[in-house]
Amino acid sequence: MSWPEHTAPRARWRPLVADGFELFSTPDGGTAQRWDKVQTHREQHRGRRGSGLCPDALRIADQLVAAIITSSRLSSAYDARLFNLLDPPMTLDDNALAQLFFAARTHNAWADRPVADELLQLLYDTLKWAPTSANCSPGRFVFVKSTAAKERLRPAMDAGNLDKTMAAPVTVIVATDFAFYEHLGKLFPHAPDARSWFAGKPEAIQTGGFRNGTLQGAYLILAARALGLDCGPMSGFNNAKVDAEFFAGTEVRSNFLVNLGYGDAAGLHRRGPRFEFAEACQIL
Ligand SMILES: Cc1cc2nc3c(=O)[nH]c(=O)nc-3n(C[C@H](O)[C@H](O)[C@H](O)COP(=O)(O)O)c2cc1C
Repeated sequence: MSWPEHTAPRARWRPLVADGFELFSTPDGGTAQRWDKVQTHREQHRGRRGSGLCPDALRIADQLVAAIITSSRLSSAYDARLFNLLDPPMTLDDNALAQLFFAARTHNAWADRPVADELLQLLYDTLKWAPTSANCSPGRFVFVKSTAAKERLRPAMDAGNLDKTMAAPVTVIVATDFAFYEHLGKLFPHAPDARSWFAGKPEAIQTGGFRNGTLQGAYLILAARALGLDCGPMSGFNNAKVDAEFFAGTEVRSNFLVNLGYGDAAGLHRRGPRFEFAEACQIL
């Protein structure tokens, strides 16, 4: 399936029609019913337009999602803004929040639409500004894009993750450089002794590297979504095989993988529920 430029959805539409009805559902299921109407409408246009996302369906989906957001019990951020609890100019607009969180999904199928190298560079140049402890920045990112490079990844993939990984325009190996502390002189110059916090201390290296490398992987997912890409993160692969193939002779170790591209909503699983605030949080 290809995406002719005139039918390609604009970035701001795509997440809004990429499912998400669990998120927006009300206790009585009313919202889910409304969301079904969106799905039905999309189904009707799927054959006609090829991409499955015709402008009419997109417009209606957007209107419905806007209505869902305003009627949803999960509208606390919006309520907070209404009551001036958040500073409006400092808050992302509804479309941006939906694109990053509320409507963004984990993708398993991909539109036949390439991801430019320049976009991958922009992706890194975005995520790199998010924080790590002592600015240690241990995350390393291998963008596996060519067919030859994908073949190097193939033997390491779990069966259930293989096909979608081979089909994805890009698969990122999110890795950690456990020699990260050797770069603190450059990255954290105002603490000249920072290297000594880690050197010769395997536990501090492991904890600091894993914590911050994982954070940077999460930043990658959010930065990708912010730039209009979809993600499919995966831990179902053989880390030792990836490390032997891509990082031999270094202190770099794979953490998880992220398929990147433009998701095909046809391959989405049903949205899983999340814990409510009271189940996961405390305010003390
Ligand atoms: C670190 C990580 C590892 C994951 N590993 C796999 C995996 O190996 N295979 C897979 O199909 N999905 C994997 N997932 C996808 C999750 O199941 C998915 O992100 C989660 O259910 C939320 O889905 P949603 O974003 O569509 O709501 C992984 C996700 C993360 C963040």
